[in-house]
Amino acid sequence: MTAVMGACVTMLPRCAKTYPARVVAHAGEIPVGGFKVFTYPQDDRPCILLRPAEETYIAFSRLCTHNQCAVHYRAEENLLQCPCHQGGFSATDGRVLYGPPPKPLPNVVLERRGDDLVAMGMSAG
Ligand code: FES
Repeated sequence: MTAVMGACVTMLPRCAKTYPARVVAHAGEIPVGGFKVFTYPQDDRPCILLRPAEETYIAFSRLCTHNQCAVHYRAEENLLQCPCHQGGFSATDGRVLYGPPPKPLPNVVLERRGDDLVAMGMSAG
């Protein structure tokens, strides 16, 4: 795995599968505490990029590991919540916090190239 930005390096303990690199955002485009929705690695795979601190970017699949509903970011609680059956995931590392999801949310492996944030692959979840 190539370099990942900031604290994200220690947040990717699971095996990752590489996919073609794709620029998903530009540094500074997302305010601290904000997020951006994008797709990766295919256009039907929704993901979410979070910027919890000035130099920290972390991204996850938005597809809940229970029944594939799209999760929503709740910054004030630092979690990603699934509206379908009230599953909750940590917005720090994707682990299941509560509800029926059987596995963590897959991480998107990110690399910073200048001002570009580039998706490089996905963890196994
Ligand atoms: S689909 Fe997300 S908790 Fe069921």
